[in-house]
Amino acid sequence: MGGADMAGDGAGDAIEGLLVEERRFPPPEGFVPYSGITDSALHEAAERDPEAFWADKARELTWMTPFTEVLDWQPPFARWFADGTLNASVNCIDRHVEAGHGDRVAFHWEGEPGDTRTITYAELLDDVSRAANALLALGVERGDRVAIYLPMIPELAVTMLACARIGAVHSVVFGGFSANALHERIEDSACRVLVTADAAHRRGSTFPLKQQADEAVEHSASIEHVLVVRRTGEDITMRDGRDHWWHDLVPAQSAACPPAEMGAEDLLFLLYTSGTTGRPKGIMHSTGGYLTQASFTHRSVFDLDAEHDVYWCAADIGWVTGHTYIVYGPLANGATSVMFEGTPNFPREDRFWEIVARYGVTQLYTAPTAIRAFMKWGREHPDGHDLSSLRVLGSVGEPINPEAWMWYRDVIGGGRTPVVDTWWQTETGAMMIAPLPGATTTKPGSATFPLPGISATIVDDRGEEVGVPGGGYLVIDRPWPAMLRGLWGDEARYRDTYWSRFDGLYFAGDGAKRDADGCFWLLGRVDDVMNVSGHRLSTTEVESALVSHPSVAEAAVIGRADAITGQAIAAFVTPRAGFVGDERLAAELREHVARMISPIAKPASLLFTADLPKTRSGKIMRRLLRDIAEDQQLGDTTTLADADVVDAIKSRYLTGGSGGVGSDDA
Ligand code: WTA
Repeated sequence: MGGADMAGDGAGDAIEGLLVEERRFPPPEGFVPYSGITDSALHEAAERDPEAFWADKARELTWMTPFTEVLDWQPPFARWFADGTLNASVNCIDRHVEAGHGDRVAFHWEGEPGDTRTITYAELLDDVSRAANALLALGVERGDRVAIYLPMIPELAVTMLACARIGAVHSVVFGGFSANALHERIEDSACRVLVTADAAHRRGSTFPLKQQADEAVEHSASIEHVLVVRRTGEDITMRDGRDHWWHDLVPAQSAACPPAEMGAEDLLFLLYTSGTTGRPKGIMHSTGGYLTQASFTHRSVFDLDAEHDVYWCAADIGWVTGHTYIVYGPLANGATSVMFEGTPNFPREDRFWEIVARYGVTQLYTAPTAIRAFMKWGREHPDGHDLSSLRVLGSVGEPINPEAWMWYRDVIGGGRTPVVDTWWQTETGAMMIAPLPGATTTKPGSATFPLPGISATIVDDRGEEVGVPGGGYLVIDRPWPAMLRGLWGDEARYRDTYWSRFDGLYFAGDGAKRDADGCFWLLGRVDDVMNVSGHRLSTTEVESALVSHPSVAEAAVIGRADAITGQAIAAFVTPRAGFVGDERLAAELREHVARMISPIAKPASLLFTADLPKTRSGKIMRRLLRDIAEDQQLGDTTTLADADVVDAIKSRYLTGGSGGVGSDDA
């Protein structure tokens, strides 16, 4: 259990780490890693010569022209393997077929209504080649941008790989975004073609993708053609000359499409990330470096046995997690994956577990927001299924609360499976800080150590490295192969956003601490750090303390302005099934936080809510909660999953409705 005592005196740190976690989990007894990696030798070898290490990993890809250069670093611009040439689709498909694995399943696809498709590597090669020829027929040329706005159907991965095959740059826009968001992203990079579908299944009803797409391209200066997949059979309007049905155009193409020979540094894709303010940033990713780190991290962190495993990343391909760990990493490694169109609780709360049992899933990769939802719904749902095939469980997207980590390991993993908490970003392209399941002793809530070949550290306000243990700002102090190559069309913003805060260091925007063993603990976005009476406290730790109480499924805390303490902590708490959020529980939770962390971290106010406002990728939107708590006008909600949640919270907070506990007893 987390200790009640304080973790030494962190008062000098840029961010104080107060939560103490004593639990340790070495690789489980029965876990025999396929990779054979059971100690730190790989980390050490990589540390002795990181460039040689990455060059080695890059050589496991198939190159058309082998590279002779490894790294050219002109801060903040890195070029990796720059004189080599390759094609990403060849690495993801052709080479496996040529190696005799054409019959291996690439995707077990599962649609929301329960329809399924099985796609082998040989079939994928056909599909991708035809789609590539269709794009060529529409006039797409090497270097052109193609926007993709699709549900989680096989055509999404196929279109990405088809772009890669002909050297076009894909820009996937998450299928839940509105016409406006799509328009903005299309225009920013002047996409020539848009690939979309008639509509998307959404929890038993449909979302009109084509209608949104029509609106988005209505005033587009760049889109010439729209390619439309029929998914739901909805009635839609097709504009003559501009719109083409996938089923008319693609299957009629030749199944042979020679792959373009691309430079390692050529752009593979753009992916827009919104952040909390400003227009979305077009994150640029290259071909050779990106594929190198995507494939290495995928096989080592999940301990992939490509021949036998059935791997499932439950993210949406609309986010970077899906790009790297549904499409490029697993396919480059010749893995068999599950791809799922639906949501975890439709039609029932056991949908995931039914899928795991049916396909014999061996690795599951999901987000803390989903894990906390599973906790909230109760363990009877996973308990009703045979989950014994699982051997590694992964988490990404937010700090994972120790209690959620424990629940994941015990309830989903039956106590047998290593849990790998993986820290990375759209900008980093692939995992950066994560355990290796057969080698690393894990701690609930810690992403542990930088992966082999990666170097990260923690600095204070002045950019000075803080000692171990200590907390502050997470920075990356050495270039890495999958790093972003810039922001589309905005070099100044690239320098300013990531490289200006600390000289020569990539600043990730996250707070972190290292414990006495040097393990990294992510503490949340630094914009969210709270300052209570001069103590710089992490939202993550207070939230984790709340979630460690048996009645709590999920919690968000923020610092709201306070005349006396600078900021006061306001907590928003979602109880687990069967618990009632009342004044007594609120008082108990405040005491619980005081005991787990420190009296200074005790929330001044606490509100129970059935839901928390989240971004569409599942991250808690603390900025909105802060606005609510301070009764400011609401910020921009376009990346908000369910805007009603905010309104509901706001009205209860302001009226002090049931379960709202006053803020006067700090
Ligand atoms: C957060 C997702 C703690 C972090 C791959 C980061 C995490 C942002 C973790 C990037 C983790 C992601 N522990 N925090 N394991 N993984 N984050 O671009 O704040 O959608 O900066 O990439 O998510 O989110 P993005």
